[in-house]
Amino acid sequence: MGFPRQRPRRLRRTPALRRMVRETALSVDDLVLPLFVREGKGERRRIPSMPGCFQLSADELLKEADRAAEAGIPAIILFGIPAAKDAQASGAHDPDGVVQRAVRTVKERLPDLVVIADVCLCEYTDHGHCGLVVERPDGTREVDNDATLELLARTAVSLAAAGADVVAPSAMMDGQVEAVRTALDEAGHQAVAIMAYSAKYASAFYGPFRDAAESPPQFGDRRAYQMDPPNAREALREIELDIEEGADIVMVKPALAYLDVFSRARDAFDVPIAAYNVSGEYAMLKAASANGWLDETQAVLEVLTSIKRAGADMILTYHALEAAAALRG
Ligand code: PBG
Repeated sequence: MGFPRQRPRRLRRTPALRRMVRETALSVDDLVLPLFVREGKGERRRIPSMPGCFQLSADELLKEADRAAEAGIPAIILFGIPAAKDAQASGAHDPDGVVQRAVRTVKERLPDLVVIADVCLCEYTDHGHCGLVVERPDGTREVDNDATLELLARTAVSLAAAGADVVAPSAMMDGQVEAVRTALDEAGHQAVAIMAYSAKYASAFYGPFRDAAESPPQFGDRRAYQMDPPNAREALREIELDIEEGADIVMVKPALAYLDVFSRARDAFDVPIAAYNVSGEYAMLKAASANGWLDETQAVLEVLTSIKRAGADMILTYHALEAAAALRG
């Protein structure tokens, strides 16, 4: 019996050899930290299903943003928990709304930190849906796509006026990128970029986020506007449409159960692709780690590296601060 000629193990023998042939390098530059802002002062409310994450008042949010900037994380994305909700989502486009004020506070103190503002209505509607709900003659209710576009556009403009560098329409309405781009341009915000939640699936993995943002739908579900999980070709179509409509960055969400979609999107498009490593993915890993069933830091780095390997250019992740610390070593 001869010796095997091909020995892949040769290049795994030492840490330096492994470093030389490593194909994917996760970097702090890839990370975006999502934060939840609520009204008040000195507020730091634990989110039980997302250990280590909090609903923060603007002053506390600033501390967290400071930490992110300090760690070298280039960007944060903000979600709001308004004091009051109504059927029209008035809080979403209020020039003095909870997120608009937080954006001003952060940009004033940390002008170099990229501030991304999520653009959706679900945190601001009393029924919890991502758009305006209308009743059909037969008594059934549905989200009105085109009436919602106008509110999304107004919300985006108010966030841009507050100083957001990037707005991120996430309502999964058809034409939302076009509507937002047109409104931004008309209002003089040509320099504000759009990160489009292009392929956002109707996923069970958003459960903890809905606790965090107090935004579960009060009736029905989001399947009539978010994507059907079995579909991948349709995701490419959604991404293509958003690029045509003017998206600067496209997103696939969630991340882990959809890595094939990143891979296909990476092959098909040259624009930056963002991944949202969502609340349920975070909660799973945290729960297993808390039980001692996983090594948390190793699992976090492995997950984030996998998402990058699949084709994502940036990763929105609640693990961002922990990952940045681990990458620094
Ligand atoms: C708003 C929005 C959601 C998430 C991000 N933006 C919730 C939803 O669609 O129900 C989920 C993020 C996460 O789970 O971490 N539409």
